[in-house]
Amino acid sequence: MMEAKQKTMASAHPSILLFLVFISSTVAGTTTCRDTCGSTQLKYPFGTGPGCGSPLFTPYISCTSNGTSDQLTLKTHTASYPITSISYPTSTLTLTPPTMSTCTSMHTSPTNFGLDWATPFQITSTTFILLSCQPPIKATPICDPSLDYLCASIYTCPSVVSLGMPLFPPANTCCVYSPANLDAKGELDLQAMKCGGYASVVSLGDTPTDPTHWVYGVNLKFSYGALQSNYVTSKCNTCEYSGGICGYATPGDAFLCVCKGGYNTSLDCSNNGFNQNQLQDYLWDSFSSPTMSPPSGYVWSFILAGIVSSLF
Ligand SMILES: *[C@@H]1O[C@H](CO)[C@@H](O)[C@H](O)[C@H]1NC(C)=O
Ligand SMILES: *[C@@H]1O[C@H](CO)[C@@H](O)[C@H](O)[C@H]1NC(C)=O
Repeated sequence: MMEAKQKTMASAHPSILLFLVFISSTVAGTTTCRDTCGSTQLKYPFGTGPGCGSPLFTPYISCTSNGTSDQLTLKTHTASYPITSISYPTSTLTLTPPTMSTCTSMHTSPTNFGLDWATPFQITSTTFILLSCQPPIKATPICDPSLDYLCASIYTCPSVVSLGMPLFPPANTCCVYSPANLDAKGELDLQAMKCGGYASVVSLGDTPTDPTHWVYGVNLKFSYGALQSNYVTSKCNTCEYSGGICGYATPGDAFLCVCKGGYNTSLDCSNNGFNQNQLQDYLWDSFSSPTMSPPSGYVWSFILAGIVSSLF
């Protein structure tokens, strides 16, 4: 959008082009919070880094490049797990731990899946299928015998051979652990259960007997916690509605609405919310908006600075 704007302006007057090039680089430098990470849409309480989203989530959530694209991840004491989807209406997210097996790719899991207790994330509606266990795993109280048919289904996947097992392995080496719980360390301790790997399933789809159509992953419920009052939630709704991204100031964690124009307010990004801003922020914003107000001497001095800096 910014580029289209630049083009029409360029034909209008060359010095305006220089100016717009200058402010867009300024704006890019100050827009620290983003509303997407890769293909994942981000809203409160998620953020792309410190100062963005909720301070309760910042220690655990990050947006980093995996080499080809940006990926949102959840960090725990065991590993960093890719977050593949977030449902805001139900306050749930889905992780795809790299150590998890699926019908197309099975492997032993050298590390345990783990979450940290006392964080805003808890396992919900996920079925763990423990694979390649030393018999007799069935005797363990964690196994739910009524779900044994899931073991039979997943053992039809040809990739079981990558677990070092024969095709259609013995049923007593598999166990469905549901509802799943983590141990005192917050881990699914495969070593203690003497299992080589695990598959985790968040949905069986329409075909409980067809493991190629199951949805694999780990579902977590997230909560804002008691600290994040309705007050912040309603401020944040207003901010997001006005096109802003919710964040917080450091130190103190005071609520901030981070606006696309490169400025922050304590309210929202509409003009009504601007009464908290410094003059400079307002000039940047109004000048880059489609209804251009006549530039003041103050802004022209920045245009000059832009021209000068573009010469070097
Ligand atoms: C706006 O807030 C974000 C997040 O706290 C911060 O990183 C950024 O520096 C702030 N920008 C300005 C112009 O104060
Ligand atoms: C990076 O993430 C994208 C999107 O999640 C995924 O499609 C791609 O395979 C990942 N690449 C690597 C190298 O992990």
